[in-house]
Amino acid sequence: MKLLVIGSGGREHALVWKLAQSPHVTRMWCAPGNAGIAEERLTADQKVECVNIGAEDFPKLVAFAQEQRIDLTVVGPDNPLALGIVDLFQKHGLRIWGPNQKAAQFEASKVFSQDFMERHGIPTAKSGTFANADAAKKFAASLNGHCAVKADGLALGKGVLICTSIAEANQAIDEILVSKAFGIAGAKIVIQEYLEGIEISLHALCDGKTAKLFPTAQDHKRALDGDQGLNTGGMGTYSPTPFLTESQLSAVGKSILDPWLKGCTAEGIDFHGILYPGVMLTKNGPKVLEFNARFGDPETQVYLPRLENDLVELLSASVDGTLDQINLKWSPMVSACVVMASGGYPGSYAKGKPIAGLTEAGSLPHTKVFHAGTARAGNEIVTNGGRVLGVTAWAEDLAKARARAYAAVEKIQFDGAQFRRDIAAKALG
Ligand code: AMP
Ligand code: GLY
Repeated sequence: MKLLVIGSGGREHALVWKLAQSPHVTRMWCAPGNAGIAEERLTADQKVECVNIGAEDFPKLVAFAQEQRIDLTVVGPDNPLALGIVDLFQKHGLRIWGPNQKAAQFEASKVFSQDFMERHGIPTAKSGTFANADAAKKFAASLNGHCAVKADGLALGKGVLICTSIAEANQAIDEILVSKAFGIAGAKIVIQEYLEGIEISLHALCDGKTAKLFPTAQDHKRALDGDQGLNTGGMGTYSPTPFLTESQLSAVGKSILDPWLKGCTAEGIDFHGILYPGVMLTKNGPKVLEFNARFGDPETQVYLPRLENDLVELLSASVDGTLDQINLKWSPMVSACVVMASGGYPGSYAKGKPIAGLTEAGSLPHTKVFHAGTARAGNEIVTNGGRVLGVTAWAEDLAKARARAYAAVEKIQFDGAQFRRDIAAKALG
């Protein structure tokens, strides 16, 4: 099979790495990819090829898939999905993995998602959806201002404002609905009660009828140790988490996925792809904070080293609606990923800093350095984004996996490198 993977981050490197292990694959491209993806191999003499087409350049992506007779295109990021890449490829008779535009609304519209959860009894925060600032302020006041105010649309992960007073909530509402801080993405908002608890990531692979739950993972969203600093795309993950037993996980999964699937059927939503609920484990039970409609980044980096199935077979079953015939198999190994980011991230940062120590780090046992924002410059690999690397390792327990990941991080240097030193620390007590 000939595969095309769309995207250029650590998630896409992990996808390419795992897909390249499948005997079904004869050739693989990644658009646009990164320096680490360009070094992946299918066989000793067959490399993965990066093509310089942006993830949102749909006409060129369609033309490329047609020219190369791609058998399966795999979409990594949220934006192309929200913009309808799946519908467009399908219109051209091209096989593609990911939710169509209607199904991708679970991530592209927080208002849609929140209203859907209310309609179908999915456990979530007490909430309201608003286009009118006065009505929104009234609701926020009923929560004493202790709430999360969320722009409806995609806002590069910045559209959620956590408020602790009525004044703060009013300001957040005005910023989004009146001053249009997030433009059209903030034409509507969701307000949720503030929930306390442990936040985990769930993933389920779906084929329109069946949803197969993954083990748990936990991300670390804030930039600095101790969950301080600004929100980021994610600074590190590990899987599984110790916060749910197997049977608790399956109960939580059921409480979310059963009504979600029923709701999808009732509303004619044909979801093929990953549903990724962000869940808060509160003292009143698990509550969904949001839905994403794609693999998490950096959750993918800790899931795929544990996955024992052939990923091409899984994604094909997700496209074809045959997931009920497949059992997901996970290694009992625990995995951990530490993100190394550019100095200044998630604010502004420099690019083009040479990265040293990649070969040394990558040759450590049970370790894989996934690239995110990297590029090749002559003989060197240089930084090319905010999140630069996802240094991932696995072992029989979390303490060892974490120690291995940090040992690899110690081998890598670039000017301004920043990373959290407490990834998975809470899980170890
Ligand atoms: P979201 O993109 O909706 O997941 O929100 C981004 C982050 O804000 C989440 O990962 C949580 O850490 C935090 N957050 C969102 N909603 C709430 C809430 N209702 N209560 C507490 N924290 C929240
Ligand atoms: N890990 C956060 C995200 O993928 O949205």
